[in-house]
Amino acid sequence: MTDYPTPQQLAEAAAFVRQAMGPDRRPQIAIVLGSGLGALADEVEDAVAIPYGEIPHFPVSTIPGHLGRLVIGRLEGQEVIVMQGRVHFYEGYSMQQVTLPIRVFQLLGVNTLILTNAAGGVNPSFKAGEVMLIVDHLNLLGMAGANPLRGPHDPALGPRFLDMSKAYDRTLRQLALQVAREAGIVLHQGVYAGLAGPTFETPADIRFLRLAGVDAVGMSTVPETIVARHGGMRVLGLSGISNVAIDQVDAEGEASHEEVLEAGKQLVPKMLTLIRGVLARL
Ligand code: HPA
Repeated sequence: MTDYPTPQQLAEAAAFVRQAMGPDRRPQIAIVLGSGLGALADEVEDAVAIPYGEIPHFPVSTIPGHLGRLVIGRLEGQEVIVMQGRVHFYEGYSMQQVTLPIRVFQLLGVNTLILTNAAGGVNPSFKAGEVMLIVDHLNLLGMAGANPLRGPHDPALGPRFLDMSKAYDRTLRQLALQVAREAGIVLHQGVYAGLAGPTFETPADIRFLRLAGVDAVGMSTVPETIVARHGGMRVLGLSGISNVAIDQVDAEGEASHEEVLEAGKQLVPKMLTLIRGVLARL
């Protein structure tokens, strides 16, 4: 795969998925499951699963907790296409490769994208196991030049210069808040910062992010949101707070991927209730 997938490669990947899921299925909603949240895909009914490795040009995840398959079926009466696991920039993929699945969804006619992730809590009031609704994001990677829209521009896919002032859809956010209220789930609202990883943050990084107005930090989501918006989709973002970020040198504890996966187990039922509730109201 090249750094910049060509229109032909995107079309080949989309054609493969269309063929594999069958002509009767036309999902308009896609859901991306983050670290430790893959079990959500088990809820999909009448499911067809397609391993990423079988799809031409599709990036394949290299880390534990990301199974790596598309699951297509029904959830709350809606046709959905679920990514059980995603790939990340830190795995060595280009931003365009990381977001190739979102382009494929665009070509398949998806108009609504639900992104989930595991994130570190930067806001001191957040606890591990709680969920944050992403209201806006801080694109630190993009500010440093790593933007998925950098490079050759295909006007058929979206505009050269993209407005990002309404990245996370207001109606979807209100729906999620309503579902959370009714289900008695704590749903914080805040700003997600997307960093490259794979290192977790230093305490100085965390204090810097806090000063910049960040509430949660992770290594995904931002590039996917950008490409989805570019492709005209509306986006809902949910961060599962898997750990509380450490903001002082010599503090107890340390961040680990195992801790992220462990918290995911606690987060799955909450995420599922929120996603099911939103789908039921669409
Ligand atoms: N930092 C960055 N990414 C993360 C974290 C974190 O603390 N937890 C889960 N993903």
